[in-house]
Amino acid sequence: MKINIINGPNLALLGKREPEVYGKNGLKEIMNLVIARGKELDIEIETFQSDIEGELVQYIGNCMGNTDGLIINPAAYTHTSVAIRDAIKASDLPCVEVHLSNTMAREEFRHTSLTAGVCIGQIMGFGAYSYILALEGLAKQLTNN
Ligand code: DQA
Repeated sequence: MKINIINGPNLALLGKREPEVYGKNGLKEIMNLVIARGKELDIEIETFQSDIEGELVQYIGNCMGNTDGLIINPAAYTHTSVAIRDAIKASDLPCVEVHLSNTMAREEFRHTSLTAGVCIGQIMGFGAYSYILALEGLAKQLTNN
């Protein structure tokens, strides 16, 4: 089984960026934790980060037919991007939306997700562990048990 993890804008700054909100771990450390959990579950994981909306759209398109599922933290694009929503839908891949913070407990503009409606589920508020929960949930769906 293969799962691709996609991270959106400003997530390369994790560790330095608002650590009181997003935690002290850098993106690489977080991805390494998820890759390690993937190994335990016999899941191959590929990761990608971009600050650029079009690159995220292209990457999702390239996943089509080449992987079993997606985990995405669209970051700020969650609240704005019809293009990323359409790319997830077009890929026809099961996708889980992830957020480190609980966006529902933050500013009102973060309460709307344009992408969650085309995902099989959404996990937020557990910091780095949100990604592990997403991986476990998606793996369960893909193996149907
Ligand atoms: C985020 C939440 C978004 O609102 C924000 O723009 C981010 C990170 C999170 O993981 O908590 O960049 O997606």
